[in-house]
Amino acid sequence: MSIHIGAPEGAIAETVLMPGDPLRARFVAENFLENPVCYNEVRGMYGYTGTFGGKRISVQGSGMGQPSLSIYVNELFRDYGVKRIMRIGSCGSLQRDVKIRDIVVAMSASTDSSMNDITFRGMHFAPTAHWGLFARAERAAEKLGIPFHGGNILSSDIFYNNDPEEWKIWSSHGVLAVEMETAALYTLAAKYGREALTILTVSDSLVTGEATTSEEREKTFTAMMKLALETAAG
Ligand code: HPA
Repeated sequence: MSIHIGAPEGAIAETVLMPGDPLRARFVAENFLENPVCYNEVRGMYGYTGTFGGKRISVQGSGMGQPSLSIYVNELFRDYGVKRIMRIGSCGSLQRDVKIRDIVVAMSASTDSSMNDITFRGMHFAPTAHWGLFARAERAAEKLGIPFHGGNILSSDIFYNNDPEEWKIWSSHGVLAVEMETAALYTLAAKYGREALTILTVSDSLVTGEATTSEEREKTFTAMMKLALETAAG
């Protein structure tokens, strides 16, 4: 048991899929894994372990934002010996050619968060995906015929920004999309010497103002899940 995860030792697989929404974690476990067993209900942040293609896989909610995700990722790496974490989530597009429903795989994560300012005392760490895992995702995407955008994303601490134009600073430097967690995930994977990768679907666009319907989100979610599971099991 750790402070925020009430699972006994050995209950969590070496590979963990991590959506922000704990109900998504339950949905993934019940619809994509075989024989899922719930190992955590503390704070309603559900975690399940099952199998996919014969491989043991867990799925654990992270909550929204870098502080929440960091609590779960620290405990998974430090207390449960987890080897790789793959975040699965949604993002807002910052580029005209990154369209609603597209998939983005984050090679790196810029951030406006102060968390790494504190850790690195004002110096600038570059949170980066695990190369082997990224290469595996690329092979899986080719095998499944699922196209994706690979590149830099923004992990922002602010969903409702006072400045509606601020995203243009990042967009003008080629940043593909905005979400709220990956910079912390990649930083902690580097700290613990483990593997991390973020796969996202585009749910809305800051460029065009479009947003997906819940029905559309379901469809693109399935493509992202296939890619994530093929990468995890491959
Ligand atoms: N901002 C931050 N996180 C997000 C967004 C967004 O526009 N869309 C999906 N996750």
